[in-house]
Amino acid sequence: MSVANDDQIIPRAGVIGWPVAHSRSPKLHGFWLKQHGLVGRYDKLPVPPEDLAAFIADLPKEPGFRGVNVTIPHKIAVLPLMAQVDDAARRIGAVNTVVVQPDGSLHGSNTDAFGFIENLKADAPAGWKAANGPAVVLGAGGAARAVIVALLDAGVTELRLANRSIEKAEALAAEFGKAILPVAWDERAPALAGANLLVNTTSLGMADQPPLEIALNDLPPAALVNDIVYSPLVTDLLANAKARGNPVVDGLGMLLHQGRPGFEAWFGVAPAVTPALRDAVLAD
Ligand code: ATR
Repeated sequence: MSVANDDQIIPRAGVIGWPVAHSRSPKLHGFWLKQHGLVGRYDKLPVPPEDLAAFIADLPKEPGFRGVNVTIPHKIAVLPLMAQVDDAARRIGAVNTVVVQPDGSLHGSNTDAFGFIENLKADAPAGWKAANGPAVVLGAGGAARAVIVALLDAGVTELRLANRSIEKAEALAAEFGKAILPVAWDERAPALAGANLLVNTTSLGMADQPPLEIALNDLPPAALVNDIVYSPLVTDLLANAKARGNPVVDGLGMLLHQGRPGFEAWFGVAPAVTPALRDAVLAD
């Protein structure tokens, strides 16, 4: 990081991760900076785990640095380094957005649950209502925690949580309450009966990962299907769901919407998710 004179200081933010080369966040925030004609920077910031604490401690001392997004593997480790964390970050157990406060203290938030629900609201063809029925969530890792928090806050009262390691689903049920019903991985297909929403939060179906195998026969035709995986954009799950007439929402929108609160906090403008933004982020 470079030190500039006062009159040269430009607002900046970035994404810390290890590795961070794959991150699409610079394209996202770069698009918004340009769209709004703002002077500012958003960079990829490779930070190895052993340097995380020092990097975070130094952040408020860097002229112009407004904060960072946090990605793999730092999302959990960064939480105890914050002076304050928001409710979502505390419940999810991870921070993805750090904002340097005017007094130099660090505020950590998690905008993944916000991004998830905003994506459903924006892209579900006929909308989605928690009151319309149970949700089925596949996976019980970090991404699942954000989806669970989002769905509980949206008012879901029955969330069937299917995971290969059932004990992880049981641990989340113990933590998040009686709305969470653990489901054995082999029971994921029959668990779709009567559901109003199906979300894949596992890495299955991602490029270079094993496929997600799930028979959709029991899923009601009106149920919304969402995949957190966005590479490929149209996963086999989404293609199969669409082929049988279910409404689908892809995973890219979650990434785009989760970026909104950070951008607004760092650069002072509330940005929008548009088709042009999607195209820009997808372009290589
Ligand atoms: P993330 O933070 O992206 O959620 P994670 O915490 O590593 O990543 O979680 C990955 C999820 O994908 C887990 O639910 C994992 O199941 P386990 O808890 O049983 O490990 C799931 N997953 C990964 N590979 C899988 C596979 N081959 N079959 C079934 N589930 C798999």
